[in-house]
This record gives sequence, structure tokens and C-alpha cells, in this order.
Amino acid sequence: KNIVLFASGNGSNAEEIIRYFKKNNQGTVVAIFSNKPDAKVLDRAKNHDIPTVVFSRAQLNEGFVLEKLYQFQPDLIVLAGFLLKFPENILKEYSKVINIHPALLPKYGGKGMYGMNVHQAVLDNKEKETGITIHYVNEHYDEGEFIFQKAVNIEDCKTAEEIAQKVHELEHQYFPEVIANLIK
Ligand code: GRF
Repeated sequence: KNIVLFASGNGSNAEEIIRYFKKNNQGTVVAIFSNKPDAKVLDRAKNHDIPTVVFSRAQLNEGFVLEKLYQFQPDLIVLAGFLLKFPENILKEYSKVINIHPALLPKYGGKGMYGMNVHQAVLDNKEKETGITIHYVNEHYDEGEFIFQKAVNIEDCKTAEEIAQKVHELEHQYFPEVIANLIK
């Protein structure tokens, strides 16, 4: 099965997913798509000899990205730290698109709720726990059907960075396995 990853930044999740599927043959990461030409995820892709596609926001919305996707024939599209709204023209062609969100949706979701903003809001609200949500992508931010959630206790965390680290650990631990189950 072919997996295409979309990422805008660091790509630590992408790296974990690539490593996981190099070790087991349930699926193959066939390409990494990014809207940021200088994103670290692109270096990671190159180190693993995985093809990359870089595009602008306009190209995402105007068909260029869809054309490129046809070439890779994805069975599953995975957004792993992808920061642009995923366009409807692609969702019409590919219904299996999933995203990972660094909080327990429906809390801390929606526009503006990404990256450190999420963890800062969780800290400010003195939450005792946070976690991860893996969900299908639809036309509304963070509102697609849930696939998987996992919580973690954060009572010992004093900064948003500490929360981010705990959430990242959860993501790395569970995301590849959830993907594997989806393409079974
Ligand atoms: C993750 O926390 C993910 O939940 C969010 O963006 C972050 C990406 O981290 N959507 P990385 O680029 O995989 O390190």
C-alpha cells in the first residue's frame, strides 16, 4: 500500500513513519509533499531516498498537487504537521486522508490551534491531561471522524515545551501503528 505524507516543518513524525515502514512491509512511504521549501522534513526524506514534492499554497488549491498525487497512487494520505487547509478537490478524489492533532479533540482544535499555541492553551487552562487525536480529514479543521486518541498526564509539566515533548513522544509511539492498521 502506498502512503503519501504531507508535512510543513520538522517532520519528526514523518521520520518515525518512514522508519516504521522500512522495517515492516505493510506499506511504503512513496513521497513527502511539503509547502515549505526549507522544511527539515525534506532533508529527512532525501536521507531516506524518498521523492519530495514542494508546492505553494496556490498550487495546492489549483490542481497542481492533485496532478502530482496521481503519479504516486496513494492508498492513504497522512498529514503529519501539515499547516495548510487541505483542499476539497483532493478530498473528493481521495477519501482516506488522516491528520494528527496534538491535543484531545474536540478540545483545543480549530483555526489557530496548532503547534505551541495548543500546548500553551492547555497549560494556561491548567489541564491535568492532554494527548493526541488521529482523525479523518474533512472540509472543516479538526472535525473529521476520530480514529484514535491517547491521553497523557501533564500535572508535572511547568512549561508548554514540556507538554509538547510528552505529546511528541505519544505521537511517535502510536502514529505509525495506527497508520499500519488503516491500510491492512
Ligand atoms: C505534531 O505535534 C503534530 O501533532 C502537529 O504538528 C506537529 C508536527 O511535529 N500537527 P513534527 O514536524 O512531526 O516534528
